[in-house]
Amino acid sequence: MQHAPTLTPLTARRSGPLEGRIRVPGDKSISVRSLILGALTVGETRVEGMLEGEDAMSTANAMRALGATLERTGEQAWRIMGVGVSGFAEPRAPLDFGNSGTGCRLAMGAVAGCPITAVFDGDASLRTRPMRRILDPLAKMGAKTVTSADGGRLPATLRGAVDPMPIVYEVPVPSAQIKSAVLLAGLAAPGTTTVIEKEATRDHTERMLRLFGAEVAVEPHGEGRRITLTGQPELAAAHVRVPADPSSAAFPLVAALIVPGSEVILESVMTNPLRGGLLTTLLEMGAVIEMLDRRQEGGEDVADLRVRESELSAVDVPAARAPTMIDEYPILSVVAAFAQGTTRMRGLKELRVKESDRLAGTAALLTRNGVSIEIEGDDLIVHGNGRARGGGLVETHMDHRIAMSALVLGLASDQPVQVDDAAFIATSFPGFVELMRSLGGKFA
Ligand code: S3P
Repeated sequence: MQHAPTLTPLTARRSGPLEGRIRVPGDKSISVRSLILGALTVGETRVEGMLEGEDAMSTANAMRALGATLERTGEQAWRIMGVGVSGFAEPRAPLDFGNSGTGCRLAMGAVAGCPITAVFDGDASLRTRPMRRILDPLAKMGAKTVTSADGGRLPATLRGAVDPMPIVYEVPVPSAQIKSAVLLAGLAAPGTTTVIEKEATRDHTERMLRLFGAEVAVEPHGEGRRITLTGQPELAAAHVRVPADPSSAAFPLVAALIVPGSEVILESVMTNPLRGGLLTTLLEMGAVIEMLDRRQEGGEDVADLRVRESELSAVDVPAARAPTMIDEYPILSVVAAFAQGTTRMRGLKELRVKESDRLAGTAALLTRNGVSIEIEGDDLIVHGNGRARGGGLVETHMDHRIAMSALVLGLASDQPVQVDDAAFIATSFPGFVELMRSLGGKFA
C-alpha cells in the first residue's frame, strides 16, 4: 500500500490520569501467519480477532493474488479458502506488501515451495530492508532470485522451486521471520526441514503449524532451539483466535505507567514468554503491573493486565533479552526517560534494519524532547530523571512504533510532542488515537 506523500502531523499533550479498560487490536505476527497458513490449506479456515491494520490487509491482498479466497465475515472475523501447499497460482501483478516486512518475508517462504514466479514489492521503507537473509536460505531449497534491487532488496522476483529440497539451516541473526520463511518453504519439501536458532525467537509459526496439523518437533539447542518440520503434510483448516498484540498493548501500558494518577486494564494480552521481554524489564524497573485471569486462548497464553502509574528506576537490559522484546525498545526508551537513573539497553544491532533505523530514530525522538542519551556501539543509554521536557517535532520515517512512542512521551512530558506523520500507525494499530483518547489521552 503506497501512502500519499502528504503527511499527517499529530500532537500529544500532557494528560490527566488515564483510566479505563481497553482491548488493543489483534497480534500482527499471528494475524499475518493465519492469512498465509490459511491460504496454504485446502478448506475453510476461520480467524477471529484479526488485526485489520494495513500490514495484515496487504498480506491478505497478496494471498488473493496467489489464488486463495479471503472474505471478511464480520468485525475482525475472516474466512479463508486456501489452495494447498505448493498450490499458489502465478500472480499477474507484483505483490505489494506495503510496509509489512513480516508479510513479505513469510510469503517469500511460502512462494519458494511453489513452481511459480512472483515479484515482491513494498513501500519506500520496505524497499530499504534487507531481503538476502531470506532469499539466501530459500536458494538452498531451490528457489531462485531472478532479479532484485541493489543489495538483494525489493523489488525482487522470486522463482519458486519445482522440487523443493529440505535443508538444515542455522539462522545467522536472531529472526523469527527468517525461521518462519524456511519452515513455510519446508512445507513443500519432502523429508524434514530443520531450523537451528542460537537464541529462541517468537514461536508463533511453530505453534500455528501444529494447529493446522503439521508435525513440528522443538528441542532445546544451547540457549536456543532446534525446530524440525516434517514436510508435505496434509494441512487441515483451522480456527484461529488472535489474542491482543502485546507490542501494541505496550503503548497504552507505558502511557499508564508515566501519566500521573493513571490506572488502566488491558484485556486479553498475549503473554507468550518469547514476547515477554518488555514486561520482565518493566517489572525490574518497579512497574506496578498485575496479570489477572491468566488463561489460554487459541493456543497462546493470555491475561488481562492492570497497570498503575509507577515510580520507576533505571535498569540494565541484557542483549540476550533482545529477541523477546525486539519491537519494544523505542517505547522502553520512553519509560527510561521517566525513570530515575541511567538505563542501558544492550545489543540493539537489529534495530537498525526495522521499518526504519530504529536506533537512530529512538535517539532522535529522545534528544528532540530534551532527554539526554548516548549510543555506544550497539547499546542505547538513556539518562532518566523522572520527567521529559517535550516540545520536539519527531520525524517518524514511515515507522509506526516511532510515531506511537513519541506520542506516548507527549502524554506525560512538560510540553506537547508533535510527530510529522501519524499515518503509519495504521499498519499495526488502527484506532490508536481513538483508544488512547477513550482513556483520557489528549491529542490534536
Ligand atoms: C516478526 C519478527 C520480528 C519483529 C517483527 C515481527 C514476526 O522481526 O521485529 O515486527 O512476526 O516474525 P525479525 O524476525 O526480523 O526479528
